[in-house]
Amino acid sequence: MSGATAILKSGATLAIIATICTALVAATYTQTTDRIAANEKTLLEQSLQPALANTFYDSSVSESRLVLDPPHGLPGTEAAIIYRVYSGDEPVAALFVVTARDGFAGPIRILLGVNIDGIVTGVRILQHRETPGYGDKIDARKSDWVHQFASRSLQDPPVARWKIQSDGGEFDQLTGASVTPRAVIKAIHETLLYFEAHRDNIFAATATDEES
Ligand SMILES: Cc1cc2nc3c(=O)[nH]c(=O)nc-3n(C[C@H](O)[C@H](O)[C@H](O)COP(=O)(O)O)c2cc1C
Repeated sequence: MSGATAILKSGATLAIIATICTALVAATYTQTTDRIAANEKTLLEQSLQPALANTFYDSSVSESRLVLDPPHGLPGTEAAIIYRVYSGDEPVAALFVVTARDGFAGPIRILLGVNIDGIVTGVRILQHRETPGYGDKIDARKSDWVHQFASRSLQDPPVARWKIQSDGGEFDQLTGASVTPRAVIKAIHETLLYFEAHRDNIFAATATDEES
């Protein structure tokens, strides 16, 4: 075999090996990103469930998402998210992700579930910077405070009583930390008002992630 033929042969062998390696890397990448996306979706669905107590639904909640850029009329100046929840074709609830701007230490990101009749199905605090031992009791992992909103609505209590008890309202305050609960209660009430005013539009809108 001449020197030139040997070089060509080794070059071809190297090119084949490189092609196989590239294909293997590409296949692994595709499989991994698919698996990561599936895991993220499962995690998201699981994290939304606590705000949907006593609600029968069979839809994939994360697939009917609306992202509303500000100004949207919901609490907060950042994007708000609405997940529509269905049983068959029937809308049964909506999950809102909104922001209370007036927390003690910064914005408070809230997940709020509301059924089709405007009754709260659950509230969870997703993110906050309130003080440990004080305002952080809004977190369901720290206290039961947030559970008092389940089954409430715009009629229960009436508007004048959507406040903490020390302000003449219905809801428990947190000892020595009344700024935090005021902010959360206001945001929940505003979200219920928004749901009442926009319910039909919310369920008629095309999901943000869908091709139009
Ligand atoms: C270090 C420090 C941390 C505080 N953290 C909070 C908090 O997380 N949430 C809150 O509402 N108030 C917090 N407060 C108290 C507020 O300054 C304010 O006094 C209080 O919200 C008034 O509540 P009260 O009417 O129950 O006294 C904190 C105060 C201090 C000094």
